[in-house]
Amino acid sequence: MSKTTAAITAVGSYVPDFVMTNKILETLVDTNDEWITTRTGIKERRILKGEGLGTSYLAIKAAEQLLEKRKLDPKEIELIIVATATPDMMVAATAAYVASEIGATNAFAYDLQAACSSFLYGMSTAASYIESGRYKKVLLIGADKMSSIIDYTDRTTCIIFGDGAGAALFEPNNEGLGLQDEYLRSDGVGRNFLKMDAGGSLLPASEETVKNRQHFIYQDGKSVFKFAVTNMADSAAKIMERNNLSHNDVNWLVPHQANKRIIDATSNRMGLDDSKVMMNIQRYGNTTSATLPLLLSDYESQLRKGDNLVFAAFGGGFTWGSIYLKWAYNS
Ligand code: UT7
Repeated sequence: MSKTTAAITAVGSYVPDFVMTNKILETLVDTNDEWITTRTGIKERRILKGEGLGTSYLAIKAAEQLLEKRKLDPKEIELIIVATATPDMMVAATAAYVASEIGATNAFAYDLQAACSSFLYGMSTAASYIESGRYKKVLLIGADKMSSIIDYTDRTTCIIFGDGAGAALFEPNNEGLGLQDEYLRSDGVGRNFLKMDAGGSLLPASEETVKNRQHFIYQDGKSVFKFAVTNMADSAAKIMERNNLSHNDVNWLVPHQANKRIIDATSNRMGLDDSKVMMNIQRYGNTTSATLPLLLSDYESQLRKGDNLVFAAFGGGFTWGSIYLKWAYNS
């Protein structure tokens, strides 16, 4: 009997309506469209407006789109993982609320946090549950309301991030399709370069932390950039080498959307031309846990059964890695 692999069998996504253009950012901080475009590739990003709407709102919308497209009864889902760096609340799992709201009453649900690598790591987790035979339907959602932790007076971070969500259903496959190999790493040396200082157990919220703007994300962009370029390119190259994939064998690179220059460095290292590189950073910016599933959703109609996809991501922690997956369906 052939080995059971874990395939992605449906995707869905959601981005909020409000479009924050580079022009709007010019009115908030000392920046300009030309700098943002040439340094990052970003033209606009989506922002979730409205009182009382958190990351769960984005995640629910993405999941509902997937359920509708697949005509899937939510009661069939056994596990929901919400990959996010911006949960609705620190303690109550966002995933539990999402599961209830979409009617997944037979599922258990939890959050997974690895900054911008959350979805990549989540793919490994979701696939393991499927490969082991323990569950048959695992819904992985990558969702972040980055605008909730962005300082819109800090020009080095506010130009980069946006809000969004994407969802992917993992199911068993007996044709050898789905997740083939993974190379995942982390290094705690990175935690001082990209972080939110306060609100965790290390530095609980206080009047002082609010006054010092420590509930916003801080990034040493230059240092993160260097680590990201090296590690995303290295891990993607390693996955290719270890699976004997030449640039001709790779149909798509699915790279975390942090900076177009990092994506270009990764695809150059892999020897891929631009037509094989998924990119939507110009429209959404860096949506942290949502970048990879948003790409899958945007490119779904171009994907063919058997296509070789190489995912690569890098994020705070540091966390990073690459996954090789064979696409399982024609849409
Ligand atoms: O997703 C998680 C991982 N995150 C990443 O991968 C992000 C990695 N880092 C980056 O993408 C880039 O470092 C940034 C886009 C954040 C910054 O680009 P950079 O080319 O590294 O710029 P820099 O920080 O070296 O700054 C260059 C100059 C500085 O001015 P001086 O000191 O040369 O006079 C900055 O003050 O650009 C200035 N600057 C800006 N100017 C206009 C920084 N931000 C801006 C801005 N508009 N928004």
